Amino acid sequence: MMTIHQDVQVGTTNADGYRTFSLGEFEFSRDEFFVHISWPTGNHMMSVDSFLRALQRDVAWDFFYGIVNFDGVFGTVNHYGTVDVFAGRYNDSYRKAELDYSENHETPRIRETFEAILSDWTNQSFDPFASPHETGSAFGLKNGDNDAAVTRQRIAARRMVGVPGDERPRSDDTGFPVNRMFADVPQDEPVVEPEPGFEGDVAAFNLFAYLSRSDVTWNPSVVSVCKDSLACPTTEEYILPIIHGNDRVEWFIQLSDQITWEVEDRDTGAKRSRVVMKAGDVSAMPADIRHQGYSPKRSMLLVWENNSSRIPEAIASGQAPTYPVEF
Ligand code: PHB
Ligand code: FE
Repeated sequence: MMTIHQDVQVGTTNADGYRTFSLGEFEFSRDEFFVHISWPTGNHMMSVDSFLRALQRDVAWDFFYGIVNFDGVFGTVNHYGTVDVFAGRYNDSYRKAELDYSENHETPRIRETFEAILSDWTNQSFDPFASPHETGSAFGLKNGDNDAAVTRQRIAARRMVGVPGDERPRSDDTGFPVNRMFADVPQDEPVVEPEPGFEGDVAAFNLFAYLSRSDVTWNPSVVSVCKDSLACPTTEEYILPIIHGNDRVEWFIQLSDQITWEVEDRDTGAKRSRVVMKAGDVSAMPADIRHQGYSPKRSMLLVWENNSSRIPEAIASGQAPTYPVEF
């Protein structure tokens, strides 16, 4: 079922101190431990820490590529201008029982609603971007906020990282100390000797040192943009807070340590495979799956995305394959 709605509403404050919100026919509330979501054909509960971690990514990535599943029931689909909010749409049981529900909203409207929920429901003790080992609790009665953390912008290089004017965290002085898990990562930078006149254009940098200073997890930065080719390295610890159903092929290069990927059918959630990636491994995730990564130790991952806006339609219409290479 699909309906189109325009209204966004902030409701009253409940006994635990949190505001309730609605977006179309969806209603959102939280208590000390749980988020409650309801829609005309059903309702759902999620632990508030996993909900906020997923919401943080959806907001920070402006609904990302394709589908952001918060869990097996609730999530969003990006149509790049509008966004579907759904319940049970990519869940075989909900579909078969005809209990799935979806609404399409203009992107600014859902963005504002989700930002407001994230701000109101995040207590001062909790940083949804941080590893669970490096932040306090999401639970309990309303207690302040952490707007500095939840409005953090992802780091996107202004120029290629390394050339003057980039936005690279270079040293402890910038507030980006080397993470406890990467204490053994060498911090020396490559020596570059450009011809006179090219000093501002020729550069190299130590990507491992750069990543060792990341203070967030599961939040790709963008270190190079070459036409539609985006190199998005990131540091990972614990579980990717969303189950990502991409609308294009995506490549992973495991730069250090190990991540296990649970891969499911994108539409039904049926298990398809488990991919264990060790340092040096490369994989391509097809466009008809969804995936969630598990990183037992903080690891470094390079995500390579093709940003072309023509790809989703080419794949959806069968013009382009769902996999990247024919062997
Ligand atoms: C992904 O969905 O492909 C993804 C998202 C965030 C990460 C890594 C991978 O940090
Ligand atoms: Fe993905």
